[in-house]
Amino acid sequence: MKKYLFSSPRLGFRTWEDADLDTFSAMNADPEIMLFFEKILTREESKAKMDQMNQVFEKEGFCYFAVDYLQTGELVGTLGLNRKNFPASFTPCVDIGWRFDKKFWNQGLASEGAAACLDYAKKIGLKEVYSYASSANTASRRVMEKIGMWFLEEFEHQELLHCPQLQPFSVYKIVL
Ligand SMILES: CC(C)(COP(=O)(O)OP(=O)(O)OC[C@H]1O[C@@H](n2cnc3c(N)ncnc32)[C@H](O)[C@@H]1OP(=O)(O)O)[C@@H](O)C(=O)NCCC(=O)NCCS
Repeated sequence: MKKYLFSSPRLGFRTWEDADLDTFSAMNADPEIMLFFEKILTREESKAKMDQMNQVFEKEGFCYFAVDYLQTGELVGTLGLNRKNFPASFTPCVDIGWRFDKKFWNQGLASEGAAACLDYAKKIGLKEVYSYASSANTASRRVMEKIGMWFLEEFEHQELLHCPQLQPFSVYKIVL
């Protein structure tokens, strides 16, 4: 059994390892999984994200973690915390975000994992966490609601003006 930073009943949270690259880059190259993101990612871009997240963890004690399915040890995807500084009414802030492989969708896993991640955020001293998604991303917004976040407002994401199909975005907040 791997060592996890924290866990939920079905999920374990950890930093990134080279062995994650095949699954993570396949996820990031899947147009359905990436529908509400700017673009799909190359294998090199996925590797760079993994390295960057481990650096964020070293500095902050949090990042968008690698998430394992505890029963099998498979990589489910990513779920975690990161700082956001793009121009908006609610930034700078710490946000919670998620991206899971399709075979794990609609089993309550993101909601379960996000609740555990908010407990971790509180434990390391964070006072509030935000989350945002394209307003059309119903599944992601549903996760925000299920973990007790409240809707703040819709906004135009200034760094994604070249992606009109993603606009507007919706931002949610929770006080820990
Ligand atoms: C968003 C995501 C992580 C949710 O993961 P998940 O494990 O399926 O989430 P949960 O099962 O905890 O909850 C999903 C909820 O959305 C609902 N849902 C899922 N797809 C939906 C859809 N197309 N329309 C409406 N509701 C939908 C589910 O019914 C469930 O709500 P319920 O429990 O009230 O029935 C997953 O869909 C994903 O990885 N999507 C692609 C990446 C992405 O868009 N990430 C977010 C970017 S902001």
